[in-house]
Amino acid sequence: MPVRHFLTLNDLSLEELDALLDHASKLKRSLRAGEVRDSLKNRVLAMIFEKSSTRTRVSFEAGMTQLGGAALFLSPRDTQLGRGEPIEDSGRVISSMADAVMIRTFDHQTVTRFASVSKAPVINALTDDYHPCQLLADMQTYREHRGNIKGATVTWVGDGNNMCNSYINAAQQFDFQLRIACPPGYEPRADLLAEAGDRVQVIYDPMEAARGSNLLVTDVWASMGQEDEQAARARTFASYQVNPALMGVAAKGALFMHCLPAHRGEEISHDMLEHPGSVVWEEAENRLHAQKALLEFLILGRLD
Ligand code: CP
Ligand code: NVA
Repeated sequence: MPVRHFLTLNDLSLEELDALLDHASKLKRSLRAGEVRDSLKNRVLAMIFEKSSTRTRVSFEAGMTQLGGAALFLSPRDTQLGRGEPIEDSGRVISSMADAVMIRTFDHQTVTRFASVSKAPVINALTDDYHPCQLLADMQTYREHRGNIKGATVTWVGDGNNMCNSYINAAQQFDFQLRIACPPGYEPRADLLAEAGDRVQVIYDPMEAARGSNLLVTDVWASMGQEDEQAARARTFASYQVNPALMGVAAKGALFMHCLPAHRGEEISHDMLEHPGSVVWEEAENRLHAQKALLEFLILGRLD
């Protein structure tokens, strides 16, 4: 069987995604019940981080330990990756010693190049283009609160960034309507918009986009690697804030998500994380459960 990777949400079929999310909720209940699970005993996950992380690192590392395996934290500062060893050479070597490899980096091609030579499954833990692991947690969180997202309306408010691109993938996979409210010039990738067709609409006005929506989602205005643009973006995005007034025009019972870290007073108001519709803390916790399901799926080739 050829090795499976998870570089975007499109690497799994809808049936596999549904099964994985059900399994994630099962693993969550099992952990809470104090059950011990050693499905990944003696398995090793190599984690390459070329950008900072709190949730991704803790969830993958804790997840591997909870399943009986181990995780290695590799930063370019301490490995030959930071000294110019070609990614394909690193890929051949690391994947010959680890059972799966997780990569957080800048250029999406770094993960596709690594995966092209890897003997072990490769997981995209965020690139400049996509953040599919976060979408697993978001979709798990939505279904735990509201059931199937099929047919729902989701509004993305803010930058057409890596998270927004992954939401476009999710809209196609899970069959929901996605509206994107971004400042002109900050739209997501044109090829992804074209591919999504009328499943995704760019509506520049946040109020118009949020009206009647079942889920509002946002993210920082300046992503990792865009620190120099922070001040200019703060001016451009000033009217793209998720706050109780915006939630007020959404559908009754609308949820609010943010992948975190959040900047209160910028993309969200100071009180937004405590809003009755906010599910951000569960969304963050679900990174752990969803990725444990993903690791079992990719390493064992089954979910049970
Ligand atoms: N949401 C997310 O990926 O968080 P970290 O950057 O802390 O991993
Ligand atoms: N868009 C953000 C997500 C952080 C989890 C970034 O890339 O920095």
